[in-house]
Amino acid sequence: MSQERDPELEAYRNRALEELSRVGSEQLLEEWYRRHLSPSGSLVGWRRSIGKAPPERRKEVGRAINEVADELNRAFAARREVVELQAIEERLRQSGVDVTLPARAQAQGGLHPSTQALREIQSVFALLGFVPFESPHVELDDYNFGLLNMAPDHPARDMQDTFYVSKDVLMRTHTSSGQVRALQKYCPAPVRIILPGLCYRHENITTRSEIQFHQVEGLLVGPDVRMSDLKGVLLFFVRQMFGENQAIRLRGSYFPFTEPSVEIDIRCTLCAGDGCRVCKQTGWLELLGAGLVHPRVLANGGYDPKVHRGIAFGLGVERLLMLRHGIRDIRLFFENDLRFLEQFA
Ligand code: DAH
Repeated sequence: MSQERDPELEAYRNRALEELSRVGSEQLLEEWYRRHLSPSGSLVGWRRSIGKAPPERRKEVGRAINEVADELNRAFAARREVVELQAIEERLRQSGVDVTLPARAQAQGGLHPSTQALREIQSVFALLGFVPFESPHVELDDYNFGLLNMAPDHPARDMQDTFYVSKDVLMRTHTSSGQVRALQKYCPAPVRIILPGLCYRHENITTRSEIQFHQVEGLLVGPDVRMSDLKGVLLFFVRQMFGENQAIRLRGSYFPFTEPSVEIDIRCTLCAGDGCRVCKQTGWLELLGAGLVHPRVLANGGYDPKVHRGIAFGLGVERLLMLRHGIRDIRLFFENDLRFLEQFA
């Protein structure tokens, strides 16, 4: 700032700045601008006065006025920001919106418990080298029954009430339907696969049966496969899923596509084997069906049963979750009630 600035100009500057500092609304701000900086404002008058100064001083007078003009412009811009911010805050206050309130948390989606379990089961079998194999849900009668050693009049067909699409086409009743498809694809190589997915049955819906449910099938075929492999694989699996202290029990059973057939029980998850209402005092709960692959099934897949042996097992995913979490009603898995599903999030 020039020391020789005209005292009158200096006084004008101070007054204008002082006025500005008291401006508290957008309207007063506009009035201040009109009075000082607009084409009809005081600064224009000051500029005109340059011509009245002696020629040798005009440059200096002009510079001083420009300095004041710059200063007022800058001060105006700064004041406008403050006033506008205050105006916004005032409007928000009056509208009753509390912008400091924390936002409501977004509900996050999650995987369905059956999907989570399917993935978990797959990752356990992956540790043993089993790879997933997908097969059709809408399946030929042959793959679901016939090639699994169940001729059209086989009584075991009654065990699985079936949705038929046409005479020869049906909704698969179990994941065993993929066994011969996989064998035919891989023959004569060894096979180590799991077949995961939905199955369908024409059932009355009750707490224990649904018209759809997930299974995971396992199939291991090779020259030296035997019953002890079945036991080892399933004991490993059960301990991964239910804890290191779990035990299994093999119980003789019957399935047309295995010989011999067994059912695998685990120690009751509720009473740990002491006997309770859930395990009907036996201390054991049935988990899955299994066995050595029937020679006819191996032959249908192209393998020579004198050279190759196989183990197979089929596991209900919802059944496993019911045992693990003490769930009493399978229908919960298909009703999409968030109060149930969110417990698995
Ligand atoms: N497919 C049978 C069912 O749905 C389960 C089963 C039993 C699968 C024994 C197998 C097996 O692979 O060996 O009831």
